[in-house]
Amino acid sequence: MSTQTSATAKTNAVLTYEGKTLNLPIVVGTENEPAADIGKLRSATGLITLDPGYGNTGACQSAITFIDGEKGILRYRGYPIEELAEKSSFLEVAWLLMNGELPTRQELEGFRTNITRHTLLHEDFRRFFDALPKDAHPMPVLAATVGALATFYQGPETEKHLQDTVIRLLAKMPTIAACSYKHSIGQPFVYPQNRLDYCSNFLNMMFATPCEEYEVDPVVAHALDQLLILHADHEQNCSTSTVRLVGSSQANLFAAISAGIGALWGPLHGGANQQVIEMLEQIEREDGNADRFVARAKDKNDTTRLMGFGHRVYKNYDPRAKVLRETCDRLVNKLDVSSKLLDIARRLEEVALSDEYFISRKLYPNVDFYSGVIYKALGIPTNMFTVMFAMGRLPGWIAHFMEMRRDPDNRIGRPRQVYTGATLRPYLPIDKRG
Ligand code: CMC
Repeated sequence: MSTQTSATAKTNAVLTYEGKTLNLPIVVGTENEPAADIGKLRSATGLITLDPGYGNTGACQSAITFIDGEKGILRYRGYPIEELAEKSSFLEVAWLLMNGELPTRQELEGFRTNITRHTLLHEDFRRFFDALPKDAHPMPVLAATVGALATFYQGPETEKHLQDTVIRLLAKMPTIAACSYKHSIGQPFVYPQNRLDYCSNFLNMMFATPCEEYEVDPVVAHALDQLLILHADHEQNCSTSTVRLVGSSQANLFAAISAGIGALWGPLHGGANQQVIEMLEQIEREDGNADRFVARAKDKNDTTRLMGFGHRVYKNYDPRAKVLRETCDRLVNKLDVSSKLLDIARRLEEVALSDEYFISRKLYPNVDFYSGVIYKALGIPTNMFTVMFAMGRLPGWIAHFMEMRRDPDNRIGRPRQVYTGATLRPYLPIDKRG
């Protein structure tokens, strides 16, 4: 099922270059976003576009997620993120993203059961984990293990095989994530439990031990579920674009997701949530002075950035951060954990939001600003924060991969460049160099 429709071209922009005129059809999406279609630009004029960081480049048409960065709007398949975060569940949202519509009760039950029955990892993965260093960051462990799944589930990419891969990925991701953590602390893996829901099962695999049962706190499981919903998709971000680019070569879904995990790991993308908590802890250790830290983030001679602030698309408060800000308050009170880091985060936000540097650049808190404080309150270890982001983003990556694969106009992703290197020169024998 797919709600993909093609945007229609209603008018033209005109480009004139060296006496040649080219009409660029203006394609308008369902939320009235206009785009100039430059598909014929190079063949008609010899020009290519130059857009480092792709700030002005639409790489595809997509019916999955809508963002209005100026107004701070985020919707999955037309549904506001705030409503989904309050009323839905992660698996329901995963279905919505991948299939285009909210599931019926029967569809959701079937989906849940299917996922529950595929959570086990092949026992041979024990040896795979054994080969990895204990102090490895869980993100490359996750990327490597997801990539390795392709060696266990090979096969021609039929629709059935692809659907099985989707279920396996969603089902095994929490198991792999928990195993990567257990591996890092030298504890035995905990097997998945079919009686537990998606997030409770993950928490049990993380925190139960052979010596002690773990009682899942429903408040914690619910907060985690909400975090996963808020991270589930964000249209053409760095990791999703990576998944699409890898998938455009017809590489399999495991390979594409593994590459997406690698892209997400970077501190400017999903890795920022770990950096935020490290920043807050550093401020707490030093003197608790948020004002001084903000001054450093503004100083052009200092590489410090206010992590969890700023966004390529949002020039307003990130709507996900708004939800998390409230969740943070509730959790800190309910779970009776120290609110020190939250207090520092609040102060940082207050100082930054009234500072000319941040105001003029439209830098607001993003999703990572408060998520770290929540993970901390839930007892998730700091180096697992970005893994949590990956677990949440998985259905979004899958939805984009599927949308691209089903698009008959899909071509392999292959950007061009403006070459700035040496022009033609003769080869120099080694004794004539230097
Ligand atoms: N602290 C201080 N200055 C900043 C910050 C920040 N967090 N973010 C941007 N700026 C400044 C930047 O120095 C530049 O100033 P100037 O115009 O004087 O050179 C201006 O704002 C524009 O920044 P940019 O780096 O050109 O913007 P970008 O769109 O390329 O980068 C960003 C977006 C998110 C990478 C950046 O804002 C950043 O590094 N933020 C901190 C890292 C972070 O929180 N990342 C998580 C993003 S949300 C989760 C996700 O979707 O991945």
